[in-house]
Amino acid sequence: MSLPADTFGRISIIEADITTLDVDAIVNAANNSLLGGGGVDGAIHRAAGPALLAECRTLDGCETGDAKITKGYNLPARWVIHTVGPVWSGGRNGEEVALRSCYRRCMELVEKYKLRSVAFPAISTGVYGYPSAPAAAIAVETVSECLSHSSPVESVFFVCFNSRTREAYNAVLQASH
Ligand code: APR
Repeated sequence: MSLPADTFGRISIIEADITTLDVDAIVNAANNSLLGGGGVDGAIHRAAGPALLAECRTLDGCETGDAKITKGYNLPARWVIHTVGPVWSGGRNGEEVALRSCYRRCMELVEKYKLRSVAFPAISTGVYGYPSAPAAAIAVETVSECLSHSSPVESVFFVCFNSRTREAYNAVLQASH
């Protein structure tokens, strides 16, 4: 996979707790209810405070593959983009299409809100069981395609919370060189 040169420059792989990042938006790996959960969803709601859940309640849920935006409240990030990834069930039930859709819809909101920086967790690779390596490839490919359309976005961070995820993303970026 060959990445357009500049998109590599704007993409960073970092190891961090996404709730600590001072970026325009962090992406939440939510569920269809948008009413919180465990994993990164739980961490984001804990850090943002109850006002986040109150706003989420007004959104009437979120389809798998879609994304919706709220304010960030007590988070350092100004916005939270909630997206719902696919539950992995072997790879022959449209999981790849749905995961690509998550990244694309999040980038559409980033463009619509003219955001300059966005941080993604490894969507669907925790509770939802999506294997890290193909998920990382989908993330980097899809976001790079969005960035190559002369996007004003300056920085995209892929946030790793464990070594398995970090190894998966690094392997993808090395393969693209
Ligand atoms: N910062 C960054 N990444 C994190 C954090 C954090 N604070 N906490 C967890 N992660 C990572 C996980 O290690 C994993 O790599 O986020 C990735 C996504 O894992 P999950 O949070 O389990 O999300 P997902 O697999 O998409 O499952 C979504 O889990 O929490 C529930 O309500 C959520 O039902 C939904 C489901």
